[in-house]
Amino acid sequence: MATAVLGLQWGDEGKGKITHLLAREAEMVVRFNGGPNAGHTVIDHGVKFGTHLVPAGVFYPDTVNVLAGGMVLDLEILRGEVDAIAAHTGRTPELVIAETAHLILPYHRLLEELEGSGARFGTTRRGIAPTYRDKAAKVGIRAGDLHRPDELARRLTWRLGALKRQWPDSEEVGGLNAVELTEDLLSTAEPFIDSVGDATAAIAAALAERRNVLFEGAQGTLLDIDHGTYPYVTSSSTTYAGLANSIGVPEPAVSHRLGVVKAYQTRVGEGPFPTELDDEIGAALQRRGGEFGVTTGRPRRCGWLDLVALRYAIALNGTTDLALTKIDVLTDCDEIKVCRAYEIEGVEIDRFPASGEVLAQCTPVYDVLSGWTEPLDGIASFRDLPEAAAAYVERVEQAAGVPVEMLSVGAEPEATIYRGL
Ligand code: IMP
Repeated sequence: MATAVLGLQWGDEGKGKITHLLAREAEMVVRFNGGPNAGHTVIDHGVKFGTHLVPAGVFYPDTVNVLAGGMVLDLEILRGEVDAIAAHTGRTPELVIAETAHLILPYHRLLEELEGSGARFGTTRRGIAPTYRDKAAKVGIRAGDLHRPDELARRLTWRLGALKRQWPDSEEVGGLNAVELTEDLLSTAEPFIDSVGDATAAIAAALAERRNVLFEGAQGTLLDIDHGTYPYVTSSSTTYAGLANSIGVPEPAVSHRLGVVKAYQTRVGEGPFPTELDDEIGAALQRRGGEFGVTTGRPRRCGWLDLVALRYAIALNGTTDLALTKIDVLTDCDEIKVCRAYEIEGVEIDRFPASGEVLAQCTPVYDVLSGWTEPLDGIASFRDLPEAAAAYVERVEQAAGVPVEMLSVGAEPEATIYRGL
């Protein structure tokens, strides 16, 4: 059976822990979007990792880990991660790198700074947007180009020439050298060369053989390039539809589409956020939830759960089940609010607007639920939840129209409550 784990908010929903748990059973784990802008927190045998590129299967033996074509890869970061994982597990993980995945090169980060887009949008400054832009402009460098060094050198020479004409006053751009860049890239890529190949065929075969394949989403639905809060989005498709395109399998038939939703809302970087709390409660959520970016260390903005946005995300992904994370962080709130609708110009709407500008004008309409004071750690069954916590879960399910399959009440793998237990 194939499963997809997809974030239903603005990223940071706790996908890292969930995929780490599910990857235990998986034969293949596939990352299909984004790049090192992602930061997945994983606790493996008591050791905390913040992974950026490697799929969650790297922690287990005999699991094939695929970096699919929709991704953008920074091979230096990948190398650091693979070395760290190998030191921890004692094994070098098996990787398949799509020949169609694009490479993030040093000039992509530089361009993000020169253009000021990092500051304007509060990006992760990992060169993500310039790399996806080069892909769309057909001037990108792909992993498959590593197999053809002469062609790679020619393309880099041409690309750097164009950049130098575009940025005549930049010393940093002026100092870029195509020969050095090609040599550095080939040297960094050396351990991965044999892993670069036809990822589409590998994924299609695993699906056809009905193997246990886990698709690991990065970022979240509201950051999707097409369906998110544009222009405050990332540059890749973060939804189920994007998955199919990235892997090159038209109907991947993923019957289990697990949407990960945090029990409250967070956002890092710029962009509209109707339920944001600029008060003591928001500060408490940030403190208790440890809401600081894994990739950038930036504090995350916090607020109440937005059910309008959740319904929108569920519809976009065809979500079948939910993993509700960090509900323990809500313990000790006197009351808990959930946003059931927006108000704009005196009119109540329950639809998520396509425009970030319109969303910025929306004010939340809240339902108020009771809080609870009992700690949730150590609870093993839904039946043992405090009444108010159970009511909260039911309210989320009612709005979502799909069941909560698992609850996460702490960072460790054991701090998970499964439905039916
Ligand atoms: P970029 O992906 O670096 O271009 O950043 C674009 C926006 O997406 C910024 O607001 C980032 O903070 C946000 N973003 C990108 N990746 C993640 C993630 O993995 N978690 C949360 N936010 C992210």
